[in-house]
Amino acid sequence: MYSKLITCALIFAQLLGTIYCGVYDNTDRWLLSDKSKNFPDNAVLGGIDSYGYDNYVARVPYASSIVPARVRSETGYATFNTQAVANQATSYELLVANETVSYHWVRSYDGFRERNAVSVGTSDLNERVYVCRARTDGGIFIGTLYLAQKVCFIRYENFPMRQISKYEVLVRQVTPAVWMPFDNQIN
Ligand SMILES: *[C@@H]1O[C@H](CO)[C@@H](O)[C@H](O)[C@H]1NC(C)=O
Repeated sequence: MYSKLITCALIFAQLLGTIYCGVYDNTDRWLLSDKSKNFPDNAVLGGIDSYGYDNYVARVPYASSIVPARVRSETGYATFNTQAVANQATSYELLVANETVSYHWVRSYDGFRERNAVSVGTSDLNERVYVCRARTDGGIFIGTLYLAQKVCFIRYENFPMRQISKYEVLVRQVTPAVWMPFDNQIN
């Protein structure tokens, strides 16, 4: 279940003597998927694109970073963006909820670090990358949040790169399973 894949880049290795790698965050459950696979019922809804398709929360590795992605359930069409580029992916990992862990969007701004914010992993600069969303370009789009940059980066298809300082952040809510000490007990 845990992905051992990492993406790495040699950045000024001679100067810094360091290899930076995007590392997956394993706090949440992400299901490796593509359009040939059945779409899970417990995937997390994130937005709606300009064509009216629901977009679900996913993540992909891209150029030594792990970044959030948005996936259409009907077609498996997956897109994502870093702070610089927009691209498509053929395989991705879908975030899935379960009986005890659910996901919600909370209003946020300026790179504020929300409690229990979901991180997809780390960037090529070794910072944690978070999942944001905002209303723009005729839809609500899942985007990429680097807290240090203080904006939600959204770039979808041929639209320009958006840098939005008021956005929503994806957070995790854990509801402990109900403990039933007297279940099945006969007196
Ligand atoms: C729900 O998912 C979390 C990880 O996100 C895991 O730790 C937990 O065991 C799961 N719970 C159930 C009931 O599957």
